[in-house]
Amino acid sequence: MITTPFTFAATAEAILLVGAKPVYVDILPGSCNLDPALIEAAITSASRAIMPVSLYGQIADMDEINAIGARHGLTVIEDATQSFGARYKGRMSSNTSTIGATSFFPSKPLGCYGDGGALFTSDDVLAKAFREIRVHGQSQRYLHTRLGLGGRMDTLQCAVVLGKLERFEWEIEQRKRLGSRYAELIQASGAPVELLAVADDRDCVWAQYTIKISAREVVQATLKAAGIPTAVHYPRPLHQQPAYAQNDCPADSMPLSNLAAQRVMSLPMSADMSEDQLPLVVSVLARSLRDSG
Ligand SMILES: Cc1ncc(COP(=O)(O)O)c(C=O)c1O
Repeated sequence: MITTPFTFAATAEAILLVGAKPVYVDILPGSCNLDPALIEAAITSASRAIMPVSLYGQIADMDEINAIGARHGLTVIEDATQSFGARYKGRMSSNTSTIGATSFFPSKPLGCYGDGGALFTSDDVLAKAFREIRVHGQSQRYLHTRLGLGGRMDTLQCAVVLGKLERFEWEIEQRKRLGSRYAELIQASGAPVELLAVADDRDCVWAQYTIKISAREVVQATLKAAGIPTAVHYPRPLHQQPAYAQNDCPADSMPLSNLAAQRVMSLPMSADMSEDQLPLVVSVLARSLRDSG
C-alpha cells in the first residue's frame, strides 16, 4: 500500500495490521502531502491501494491520486484524520476518494473527549463490510460472516461528537481565520519562517498550525519559557521508525520528508483561541529566531 512516510505512525500501523506492506513515497515540500508525481514509479504488481494523508488539515492532491488509482486499479483511501471539515474543489475531506477515514481524538478538528473515529464511503458493498467488521464480523445478530473486531464508538463519545457538530462549522471557520491571521503576523514580522503552501482550490482547517524553521530546539525552548506550548508533527519519518522501516527504503531516502522532520514546528491552535493571543506568540517566535541568528 503506497503512502507517505511523513505522517503519524497510525497510517502505516493500519497498513501493517492488515498484513500489507507500506511503500513510502516522498512528499511535496510546500504542503508536506504525498507527491503524486512520485507515485507511479512505486507501483508494482503487488500494489493494492494508495493512502494519502491530508496532513495538518489540507487535503492532498486527490484528483491526481485518484486518476493514478483508476489507471492501475488501486483503491484510494484518504487518511482524513487531520482534515475533517476541509474542502477540496467543492468536496469535503473523507469524501474525496473510495474510502475516507477520520479520527475524533480530542486534538482533531472534530474531537470527542476520548477515542473515536469514522469511515466514509459511497460504495454500498464496502459500507456493509465496514458495518459488519465494526461488530465482530456480524451480518446479523450471532451470524459471523467475516472476521471483525470490536470497533463500536462509545455512546458517550458519540454524544460529544453530536453535540460538537452543532458548532462545527463555526469551529472550522475559526481555525481558518486563526490560520490566516498567523500567516499575516508572521509575514509582517519578517522572521525567517517558511509557511505551508495552501493551494487555491482547497482550504486548510489547521488541525495543527505548522511552520518550518531552523534552530527549532532553541525556538521551542524560548517559546516554552514564555508559556507558549509547541509540538513537532513529526520529528522522525516512518521509514526511520524501528517498527515501520522497510528494508528497501533506507533512512536517507525520502529527502523531503527527512528535511521536513527537521524543520516543522506547530504553534498553538484551537477554535477556542482568540486572535488577540496570536501577536504574542508571533513576537516571541520572531525574537527567538532573530536571537538564534
Ligand atoms: C495522520 C493520522 N492518522 C491516523 C491517526 C490515528 O487516529 P486514532 O488514534 O484516532 O486512531 C492520527 C491521530 O493522531 C493521525 O494524525
